[in-house]
Amino acid sequence: MAMAFPQTRMRRLRASAGLRGLVRETDLRAGQLVLPLFVAEPEAEAGPEAAGAPARSPIAAMPGVERLSLSAAVEEAREAAALGIAAVMLFGIPREKDEHGSGAWDPDGVVQLATRAIKQAVRASSPEGELLVITDVCLCEYTDHGHCGVLREDGSVDNDATLELLARTAVSHARAGADIVAPSDMMDGRVRTIREELDDEGFPETPILAYSAKFASAFYGPFREAADSAPAFGDRRSYQMDPANGREAVREALLDVQEGADMVMVKPALAYGDLIREVARETRLPVAAYNVSGEYAMVKAAAAAGHLDERATVLEILTSLRRAGAEVVITYHAKDAARWLAEQ
Ligand code: PBG
Repeated sequence: MAMAFPQTRMRRLRASAGLRGLVRETDLRAGQLVLPLFVAEPEAEAGPEAAGAPARSPIAAMPGVERLSLSAAVEEAREAAALGIAAVMLFGIPREKDEHGSGAWDPDGVVQLATRAIKQAVRASSPEGELLVITDVCLCEYTDHGHCGVLREDGSVDNDATLELLARTAVSHARAGADIVAPSDMMDGRVRTIREELDDEGFPETPILAYSAKFASAFYGPFREAADSAPAFGDRRSYQMDPANGREAVREALLDVQEGADMVMVKPALAYGDLIREVARETRLPVAAYNVSGEYAMVKAAAAAGHLDERATVLEILTSLRRAGAEVVITYHAKDAARWLAEQ
């Protein structure tokens, strides 16, 4: 039987940085981080020169995060690669939206163009240490109504009619050179449909990172401002999950495994650590945690007001997601975190 106090003193192994380092259970490396990028399609009338110049516009609730022109996205990806960050995750802001979100699968759409440009740029600068490009597969940034699928006449989202459009989008991303496609729409059966279509179209090696347990969360507020993707009416509760449900989250993840997901995601991250743990245990797949826009905004606001030490807070948050069981952490703090980790 293990001895208790005074033979056992937990503080012995906390006495110096050397001892603490020796027994640390969880590591955090830049190579585990993914940086989301918002890429905006250039205005048609801006002309080729203006379209080529790097341009950035701020996002009020997310200091340090910007909407990027194509060339600014390439700059940002180069910087991420130099910092040792594993991947960028691309979100597109198209110039025009329509009922079906056809910009999502346009071969010359904003994500497709950005994927090609970034892959080309990072390959040229470092052939082996290659930055991965993950693309978000969803229709909400491309539909004029802002929902993640096509609508029936009564305004509800038509699951089965949406699947084909998502698969088309995923294939167009793979064709542009995406290393991983990540469906975030929460339609039933989309992983299977995307897998089949990728295989049929010659991309059997492209992995799918499924947003398996994606909750209808208030923490996406700043993202919707950034991506201009707030639903024009209603909300997403008929397809995204109820934050009260944990067993259902595991079930969602297991279904995605059956449908052929290579990695699964839990999103948001901070209020869902229990599910990161459970999903990792139950699926045995690599798990990604998405530290979302509202979680970022809270930390930035508190730090700007002088209420929190930003660096310590961010590293503690990201480490806690690793400790909960996530191999991969998707976070807007990725560049800062990578810099801080390099200094340690
Ligand atoms: C698209 C999508 C959203 C996010 C990622 N992909 C928005 C939403 O579902 O409303 C949110 C990411 C964040 O808040 O950082 N469906």
